Amino acid sequence: MLCLGIESSCDETAVAVVSEGGLLAERLASQADMHALFGGVVPEIAAREHLSVLPVLCREALAEAGVAPADLNGVAVARGPGLLGCLLVGLSFAKGFCLGTGARLVGVNHLHAHLLAPGLEREMVFPALGLLVSGGHTHLYRMDSPGRFLLLGRTLDDAAGEAFDKVAKRLNFPYPGGRFLDELAREAEPDHDLFPRAYIDNDNLDFSFSGLKTAVVSHVDAHPGLRAARMTGPGEPGGEGGDRAALARVCASFNWAVSDTLRIKAERALDRERGIRALVVAGGVAANSGIRTAMGDLARRRGLELFLPSPRLCTDNAAMVAHAGFLSLSMGRRHGLDLEAVPRGRVVPEDWLQGTD
Ligand code: KG4
Ligand code: ZN
Repeated sequence: MLCLGIESSCDETAVAVVSEGGLLAERLASQADMHALFGGVVPEIAAREHLSVLPVLCREALAEAGVAPADLNGVAVARGPGLLGCLLVGLSFAKGFCLGTGARLVGVNHLHAHLLAPGLEREMVFPALGLLVSGGHTHLYRMDSPGRFLLLGRTLDDAAGEAFDKVAKRLNFPYPGGRFLDELAREAEPDHDLFPRAYIDNDNLDFSFSGLKTAVVSHVDAHPGLRAARMTGPGEPGGEGGDRAALARVCASFNWAVSDTLRIKAERALDRERGIRALVVAGGVAANSGIRTAMGDLARRRGLELFLPSPRLCTDNAAMVAHAGFLSLSMGRRHGLDLEAVPRGRVVPEDWLQGTD
């Protein structure tokens, strides 16, 4: 079976082709530089950009895979959650493609696709505990199989990535600044008493990162020497007379507060859920060094197999969408041409048509 995957839920436009043997080709165009000028993603600009590059990327990916449009059995498209205008570009393209070629259409939950991405690198093990940490989401799932996800907990306010990016913005790092903050964090040891690990004194599996974000921002505001006077890259942080060592300590302490909060809730989920054999950590923020270390330690202590996708599969990409779509189609799931996009904040429905014809 040959499946095309399309990703356009935020600011990356991506197309990939997969078969039983795995990934055949992929193309990705990031708009990050464009949105960096505004300090965040501008939805209208993002949607227009998807519209202009999607057909080109699709042609290139198919040519590299040596696949003609008529050879495709399925077209998988990220149908949400995401920015509505952006999702609609991908959905319209996918529907047109299916109408023209007769390929089967399948809408993919972008969050599930992130968590299934490690399957492109090696065979996954189930049941697994899945932690999705991205710019827009922080979700904890029980994954019984590639087709069965149960949401156990989620952020009540900011996603972990949002907290990283907002603090980074205050420090005058370019958007999205999470990775710059992480690079500096590696230069120092964390101070465990500097920032709170928010929302852990309860018995649930939800998260809250807005209080931590405010604590770090307040600390930065109270110590103006930490902040660059103008927007900088990681090689030149700190304002006039800025203290790089102090800034690195702040970043390391923030990294630790986020990582340890995630570790506490993941561990709590493992105490409650039966039969878990693996820990999956995915999404853009899974590239974070503190989170990778904390989750690696947790998996080792609990005797779980750890699935941490390589960095290119952590951030938004179409290989994960094509792969998740491939798995869905293999289970006999598909959608009609009335498939709807699901904006951020709404639950993605499980509204497949069953059957392969
Ligand atoms: O999954 P993703 O590519 O896009 C969404 O679907 O949101 O995640 C992007 C997020 C951004 O917030 C970015 O700052 C963050 O991932 N990120 C990091 C690191 N690398 C990327 N955050 C912390 N540490 C990193 N090393
Ligand atoms: Zn994502």
